[in-house]
Amino acid sequence: MNRIIKTVSLFVATTLLAQAQAPTPIKVNVAQPVSEIQPTMWGIFFEDINLGADGGIYAELVKNRSFEFQKPLMGWKIERKTFHEGEVLIQNRADKNTANPRFVSVKVENAQKGDLGLTNEGFRGMGIKNGLRYDFSVMYRQSGSPVKVHAELLDAKGQVIGEGTLTPSQTDGQWHRQAVSFNAKATEAKGKLRLWFEGNGQIDLDMISLFPEDTWKGRPGGMRADMIQKLADLKPGFIRFPGGCIVEGFDLNNRYQWKKTIGPIEERQLIMNRWNIEFAHRPAPDYFQTFGLGFFEYLQLAEDIGSEALPILNCGMACQFNSAEVVPMDQLEQYVQDALDLIEFANGDINTTWGKVRAQMGHPAPFNLKMMGVGNENWGPQYIERLKVFTKAIKAKYPNFKLINSSGTDPNGDRFDYLNKELRAMNADFIDEHYYRAPEWFLKNAGRYDSYDRNGSKVFAGEYASHTNNGASASNRNTWRAALSEAAFMTGLERNAAVVQMASYAPLFAHVEGWQWNPDLIWVDNLQSFGTPSYYVQQLYSLNKGTHVLSMTQNNQPLIGQDSLYASASWDKASNEIILKIANNNSQAQVREIQLDGVKKLDPNAKLIVMQSDPNAVNTFEEALKVSPSEKKIVVNAKTKKVSLELAPYSFYVVRIKTL
Ligand code: AHR
Repeated sequence: MNRIIKTVSLFVATTLLAQAQAPTPIKVNVAQPVSEIQPTMWGIFFEDINLGADGGIYAELVKNRSFEFQKPLMGWKIERKTFHEGEVLIQNRADKNTANPRFVSVKVENAQKGDLGLTNEGFRGMGIKNGLRYDFSVMYRQSGSPVKVHAELLDAKGQVIGEGTLTPSQTDGQWHRQAVSFNAKATEAKGKLRLWFEGNGQIDLDMISLFPEDTWKGRPGGMRADMIQKLADLKPGFIRFPGGCIVEGFDLNNRYQWKKTIGPIEERQLIMNRWNIEFAHRPAPDYFQTFGLGFFEYLQLAEDIGSEALPILNCGMACQFNSAEVVPMDQLEQYVQDALDLIEFANGDINTTWGKVRAQMGHPAPFNLKMMGVGNENWGPQYIERLKVFTKAIKAKYPNFKLINSSGTDPNGDRFDYLNKELRAMNADFIDEHYYRAPEWFLKNAGRYDSYDRNGSKVFAGEYASHTNNGASASNRNTWRAALSEAAFMTGLERNAAVVQMASYAPLFAHVEGWQWNPDLIWVDNLQSFGTPSYYVQQLYSLNKGTHVLSMTQNNQPLIGQDSLYASASWDKASNEIILKIANNNSQAQVREIQLDGVKKLDPNAKLIVMQSDPNAVNTFEEALKVSPSEKKIVVNAKTKKVSLELAPYSFYVVRIKTL
């Protein structure tokens, strides 16, 4: 009898203890959505940094194709059997062609293939693929007997792996373009292009170019397909371009001017990329912006991947960490006019000045541009003063056009507070906040927007990334720890979609041999690319966005770090699904029960997407999917409307539950 009493009391005690220790269920209120989630919510930030455009998505393989780099033969090597003074000369026709004044003159006397040549090293080599067609083209001018150009693709050992011959057909002393295509016979990550000259005479050459056939959408002179596919796979709501600091430039002369990036590519004036000189620990003396990829191409890219375009324009101020030049107020008009003209270029009727230019470039239909940023990371009263002039002029002509304003470089401090106050007083459409911070900052700030004014200016979380070494340091790494802290923070962005209506990780791309800034979302070499753990976190949010925010609480509080848990929920009107997101930043596994309130009928078979790894794990070319999502099935109790989740240590989950 005694034994029975003891056993029963032990059972009761254990049950009571278990009940006392079981965490309160997490509640999701499905009946009353909190706010809408904008289709633009998760987007991408593109800048020509880390060889993002030239040497990156712009598929041109020849570096310094127009001899306009500061050192005109940078990237080129003269190959010769016997030295003849003056046989290769850089000439300058600045009086006739200010955008592209230099060209190379090659003079040969009874030359055979192998006597005199020019080799281009590409951007840290050229990625060549076996069997693929390569399109070689030049602009040339000659008046005497024709000089043939033999183009050869070389592998890393200097062996020929593809060749074609171009025999210029015109000898009228005018500039012409001619092309020849040929297939590669081997794959090589460190290829080169060699030109041999055959004949007797002089040929002038410019815009020496080599493109692979397999560009995005097969466009000649287009973009690198594998890199753009990575962007398309994110299904981004918007694409911000062209930066970043390159919008501001080292000085005003070095600023990004969209009008110089459209029209025939040989007329687009190259400038130094300011990342060429920014970081002493990562010098890039060969980094220039050729603008083969310009504003027309960016607008087309946005259209191709179904994103809203978000161009950022210079506001009359150069980078305040560099020269900090400002344009005098009485000379700001040209900058404002550039902004107005851009809207006309994107949206204007084909009979307008700039709409006509767009149509001539092959896009008569408007791009339907809805927004633009004025200034990148600009700050101080000098910014507000200039911004007011832009805002007045743009809103007067286009009252519904949305403007994105800068809140400087940091998400707090005097500069931020000043701008935040001024911009809200101006009733800014969007305030662009940037945060490159340690993982701990992201975790601590998961509730940052919970107290933001719902009725005031909206927030664009325009640049953010978790930096394992807290700052723009070369030793930051794209670890799972960093990505998980972003996933945790992003629950706060999603929960506050009434305020935060756009967000983008930055920077987007980095070439393993040509980067300046670390970490980045996608890493590439000359042939391949892989997504970091942060890439997959961004993708999970974007592909599982939903249309409305749902309240998700424990003890009536949002999950912003209790037991190292972070969570948000949404509802997808189109698919009738409840979407839950939960990050467990705990070193221990945890079990949580989630109660779905206010729903009539649920499909018991739900989808569970998991990312889980060692916090220090990273993806590499060899293990590109080491930290990436995997999908499972999970059963929901359709009667009790409960789902129980076993949350592994350092994990992130997305659950999709269908309502019936
Ligand atoms: O994303 C890299 C740089 O960080 C951007 O160019 C700039 O806006 C920020 O400082």
